[in-house]
Amino acid sequence: MKHILGVSAGFHDAALSLINEKGDIVFAGHSERYSKNKNDENLSLGLLHEVTKYNVQHIAYYERPWAKQLRQLYAGQGIEWNKLTAKQILINQIGNEFKAFPSDRISTHNHHLSHAAAGFQTSTFDRATVVVIDAIGEWDTISIWGAEYDRKGQAVYKKLWRQTYPHSIGLFYSAITSRIGLRPLDEEYITMGMAAWGKPNWYESMTNAVVKNTHLVTMHNNYHTGLPENFLEAATNEDIACAAQMVAEDLISQVMQRARGFGWSSNLVYMGGVALNCLANRNLGKWFDRIWIMPCPGDAGSSLGAAALAYGRPINWVDAYLGHNIDGPYPVQALLDELSTNRIAGVASGRAEFGPRALGNRSLLADPRGSRIKDQVNEIKRRQKFRPFAPVLLEELVDQYFDMPSGFVNSRYMQVIASCRRPDLFPAIIHVDGTSRVQTVPRDGSGIRKLLEAWYDLTGCPMLLNTSLNIRGEPMVNDRADADRFEQLYGVKVFS
Ligand SMILES: [Fe+2]
Repeated sequence: MKHILGVSAGFHDAALSLINEKGDIVFAGHSERYSKNKNDENLSLGLLHEVTKYNVQHIAYYERPWAKQLRQLYAGQGIEWNKLTAKQILINQIGNEFKAFPSDRISTHNHHLSHAAAGFQTSTFDRATVVVIDAIGEWDTISIWGAEYDRKGQAVYKKLWRQTYPHSIGLFYSAITSRIGLRPLDEEYITMGMAAWGKPNWYESMTNAVVKNTHLVTMHNNYHTGLPENFLEAATNEDIACAAQMVAEDLISQVMQRARGFGWSSNLVYMGGVALNCLANRNLGKWFDRIWIMPCPGDAGSSLGAAALAYGRPINWVDAYLGHNIDGPYPVQALLDELSTNRIAGVASGRAEFGPRALGNRSLLADPRGSRIKDQVNEIKRRQKFRPFAPVLLEELVDQYFDMPSGFVNSRYMQVIASCRRPDLFPAIIHVDGTSRVQTVPRDGSGIRKLLEAWYDLTGCPMLLNTSLNIRGEPMVNDRADADRFEQLYGVKVFS
């Protein structure tokens, strides 16, 4: 069978996606999981070996190399104009594996359009408003699209609006992340978690200092190079995070209002790295009735978007378990026994998740009840104590325990926060603002679903604490060897 290989590489979080001629996603995975280099920008051989056994007829690259170089020159990013083609970039990335591949079977696609396609063509919508917000593509930083399928079933995208470099919500948020001592383009989710601990005292000062025109999403400065050294120097990190989240939400609101105003569709497909801001996402239902955020909305997901553009038709989205396979049945009974006795257990089973969240196949799971479990899991994860853990629960029971924001009837990929109705019962999975980043699991026959059902039967508790299974400083566990290292380092059993 013929396949299309989508490639995202050379910036951060390189990834490959492979689809077949029926539109099935055969594989999608991140380079970092193989190289163990977090957010690896380069394609690794281990990742490539997952796809070389297939008959690749076409390679689709997630952006336009020349346009990007032009912008990098404009931005003074210290690169030389080298007119690299997508094929040359691929060869640079992965040595000779692509050398013999015919150039006329390699296509390049606009960065934001790749984001849009990764969302729209995996959604169930025939027609949707697509919003892309990231740090930067070639030039676009925000784009709004009207998407639909034509009579032949081909996806058609009409660009309705865009904002361009250097005006960027993503670059602003990354600059804030760097300002408070975290790693930009990686730890924005920690900035977001910190926001709830801050006070909004600096909101107005930050708005005035940063935003030129809220409606147009223009900024006073280029935040690509960071913030001025003395930027709000009297403010605490928590207060800066709080103000930045508020400013970002103001700007995102303007974009969503504008997007809805085009009247194209009340279905929203939301993509780009900023779509991972699950705190801001709670507001999306103000403008849209139905919402789809592909679980890997950032640049890694655009490997799938580029492949989708080359394919042209809808992609058969089933779930996010698309990466490396650890063969064998999901170890339900072993996990159940361990959770009942020791309250914490690891699992590395089936296919790895595509996207930044562990959704039950590469997870550290724990009994969420009681006040001590958070500290116990934190001892293993050794992460900032202010951050809560997330719950995973039976989808049909979500309304009993959480108030889901409008527009979200479920949250299968941990993309939105919800207020917990029983914070007294589950303190480990509640943030200081009373919310949780919920993962709901439908009756899909998945391993995590079977485990939750068995756990519920045994204990009457419909949820587990779920955090990613990773050695500190490393990406998520990928294969059994990683899982063995985790066991040895932390003394927690990992079942396959
Ligand atoms: Fe992007």
